[in-house]
Amino acid sequence: MTATTSPILSVDRISALAERLRAVRRQTLELCKPLTPEDMMVQSCPEASPAKWHLAHTTWFFESFVLREFLAGYRVFNPDFAWLFNSYYESFSAFPEKRLRSSFSRPGLEEILRYREHVDTAMNRLFEQDPEEEALRRIELGANHEEQHQELLLTDILNAFFTNPLRPSYREHGSGIGDRKNRKQGSEAAHETQPLIFKQFEGGLREAGHVGSGFCFDNELPRHRVWLEPCALADRLVTCGEYAEFIADGGYRKPEFWLSAAWDAVKQNGWRAPLYWSDEGGEWNIFTLGGERPLKELAATPVSQVSFYEADAYARWAGRRLPTEFEWEAAAEGQPVEGNLLDSGEFAPVPSTALLQNRNAAKYGDCWVWTSSAYLGYPGFHPLAGTLGEYNGKFMSGQMVLRGGSCVTPARHIRATYRNFFAPETRWQFSGILLAK
Ligand SMILES: [Fe+2]
Repeated sequence: MTATTSPILSVDRISALAERLRAVRRQTLELCKPLTPEDMMVQSCPEASPAKWHLAHTTWFFESFVLREFLAGYRVFNPDFAWLFNSYYESFSAFPEKRLRSSFSRPGLEEILRYREHVDTAMNRLFEQDPEEEALRRIELGANHEEQHQELLLTDILNAFFTNPLRPSYREHGSGIGDRKNRKQGSEAAHETQPLIFKQFEGGLREAGHVGSGFCFDNELPRHRVWLEPCALADRLVTCGEYAEFIADGGYRKPEFWLSAAWDAVKQNGWRAPLYWSDEGGEWNIFTLGGERPLKELAATPVSQVSFYEADAYARWAGRRLPTEFEWEAAAEGQPVEGNLLDSGEFAPVPSTALLQNRNAAKYGDCWVWTSSAYLGYPGFHPLAGTLGEYNGKFMSGQMVLRGGSCVTPARHIRATYRNFFAPETRWQFSGILLAK
């Protein structure tokens, strides 16, 4: 708390943060409701973690970085959890190899849920004790960290269910808010592909990066000047139907559309379609959190689960390019954060007009968009002090920036300056394609 903050404002701020944290913690458990304890053990690809691990690791964050330092007399739940549920913080403790997370049958799920309760109770105690400024900052970071893991939990479950021969559904298709709206408004129009319109931006000298007093990650700072040439960005994402044309045109067999490393990835991995597309007797099916669905039902829906390499190849095939992260930010700045995000309850991309009447505002949601920008520190970037400096900064090598959030990103988690990042071959996220020219 700073000397200039009035006590009443401080109390308001602390109670608002306490309520925010409780809501985030509840939401994580809510997302696990459709899962069995066995579902929560699966780790079906190297990028993924079991849902049970997500429950424990997000709790570990608060115990390790908040309670141990800021709550006098805090009793750790289990001393082994300090290293067991550490993800990658080298300066904190040793930790198990990521691929071993599915072998953590012990501690059992009930013990993990007790761990969550133990930490939540202690956090409530801390809130009653007028926590210091650094504690509040870390709690806010922890809430944002847990929201990131909510998204991962769903993308990991989608992969787990895709690899299960029964191809189970996480939830029934048609139970999202958008589906209900579509039924009210007449769903036919929502499933027609809207014409792709390019919106012109003038370019010039602009500023990029976070500004203001709200939360941001260290990688969104410092705000700095960028020069943009005039450009145009598509007003919606590339659809499954459009991507199917690329496949039908032999896109995956023509090296001229692919970067060298991308073509190696196509050959080595045998890629011939996005991650969850299966060829059933000449017809494509697409696996979603609502189960398997035919391409013809999803033709107007944004294509998802493509790598940067595929997004880039598609753009070349289409005679376009991917936007830079600063072009995207310039287009999104000042737009309200509206779109098909986690809060819509869709948990899958939807056709571009299904949720939004105002197409100018369709800058967020459905799929993260791959940009052509390498993930690097901004001029003057410095990571957070101490162990939490490992959160973002140490990954600034060999990754590409994604922008805009997806259908499983909580709405209050995303903003115009938000930088997601993954290696260019990564396909298990809700990552899609926005064209630029
Ligand atoms: Fe994490």
